[in-house]
Amino acid sequence: MAELSTENSSFIPFNRPFFSGSEFDLIRQAIANRRLSGDGEFTKQCHAILEQELGVAKALLTTSCTHALEMAGLLLDLKEGDEVIVPSFTFVSTVNAFVLRGARPVFIDIRPDTLNLDESKLESLITPRTKAIVVVHYAGVGCELDRIMAIARQHGIPVIEDNAHGLFGKYKGRHLGTFGALATLSFHETKNVSCGEGGALLINDSRYIERAEIIREKGTNRNRFFRGEVDKYTWVDIGSSYLPSEILAAFLRAQLEVRASIQAARKRIWEYYAEHLAGWAATAGARLPFVPAHCEQPYHMFYLILSSPGEREELIAYLNRHGINSVFHYQPLHLSAMGQRFGGRPGDCPVAEDVSDRLLRLPFYNDLTEADQSRVVTALREFRFQRFVEAVS
Ligand SMILES: Cc1ncc(COP(=O)(O)O)c(C=O)c1O
Repeated sequence: MAELSTENSSFIPFNRPFFSGSEFDLIRQAIANRRLSGDGEFTKQCHAILEQELGVAKALLTTSCTHALEMAGLLLDLKEGDEVIVPSFTFVSTVNAFVLRGARPVFIDIRPDTLNLDESKLESLITPRTKAIVVVHYAGVGCELDRIMAIARQHGIPVIEDNAHGLFGKYKGRHLGTFGALATLSFHETKNVSCGEGGALLINDSRYIERAEIIREKGTNRNRFFRGEVDKYTWVDIGSSYLPSEILAAFLRAQLEVRASIQAARKRIWEYYAEHLAGWAATAGARLPFVPAHCEQPYHMFYLILSSPGEREELIAYLNRHGINSVFHYQPLHLSAMGQRFGGRPGDCPVAEDVSDRLLRLPFYNDLTEADQSRVVTALREFRFQRFVEAVS
C-alpha cells in the first residue's frame, strides 16, 4: 500500500507487520457502525471464520494469547498447591497464566527434533495434584498428540494447547487447537495473521463455553442478556475484561480474509530457506527445523540450531553488521529467576538448556522478498567461509 512505505530498504528486520490492504476500509466500517466495544459484527465474523475453518465448538477473541491462557487458568478452577505440567522451552505466558491462579509449574523437557514437549517424560511427572498438561506446538509443528492425549485421558487430566504459533497447522490431518479441552491463539504482530495485539480462546469441551463467556465479560452474564436469555445482566462469577474492541476485530478480519495467500507466501519463504540452506547447514554443523511427515506446519518460523552458543553470538553480530536482524528465542523457564523459585535447577531439562543457547531465528514475515532472502543466505555463506579461512590460516 502506497501510504505504508518501508523505512530503510537495505535493512532486513526480523519481523515486519503485514497489511492486506483492506484494514483501513474495515476499520472505517467499524467506526461508521458506531459500535467500537467488543463482540460486535466484526468480532462475530472472526469467531465464525475460526470456528468453521478449524472445526472448534467455540472461538472467542481475546486481547492476547496471554489473556486466553489466563482464561484457561480461571476455567480450570486452579488453586494453591495444584500442579500444571508445562514445557520449560516456551514463552512466560504459557506458565504465568497458571501460576497466577496459585498453581505450581512442573517443567518438562523438550524433544531434540521438534523442540516440543517430550511425551516420553510425561507420565513420570504426573501426580495426584496434576490439574493440567499444557502443550506448545513450537513453530506450529504439532506435538505428539496421540500419545499425549492418551496419557491425559488415562489420568483424567485436561490438555491445554498453547497454539500461539500454530494457527492452520495440522497433526495427522486435524487442525492444531482442536485436540485439547481448551486451546489458545496469538494475533500478536509477529504472527502469520495479526492485529497488533490479540488472541483467541478455542473451546473444544463445550462444558466450558458458558463460563468462558462470563469470565471474558467481567464475570457477568452479559452475553446471555444480549441473546435474550435473561432479562438483565449481573455479576455471576469471577472474571475480567478479555474482549478486544471492534477496531481490532475489523483489522483481524481483513487479515483472516486473505489467510490462504498469507499461508502460500509463508510456504514459499520457508521453502526457500530450507532449499538454500540445506548444504550450508551440513558444512556448518548446524541443523534446520524438523517437521515430521504426519505434521502440516503453518510456516510460522525458520530457525537454525548452530554448533555452539559462541557461534550464535558471532553470527548474530555478523548478520547485524550486514543489515540483517536475526534473533534468539526462549530461555529455559526452569532456570529463570521465577523458575528457580519453583525449584528449577540446571540439568532438569537438558535438551531445553542446550538448544536455547544455540537457536537462531531468521527474518520471516509475509512480504519478505526473495531478493532479501537471498541476501540472508549469502551472508550466512560468507560467515561460514570466513570461519573456514580463520580455521585454516
Ligand atoms: C508459545 C507462546 N505462548 C504465548 C505467547 C503470548 O502471546 P501474546 O503476545 O499474544 O500474549 C507467545 C508469544 O509469542 C508464545 O510464543
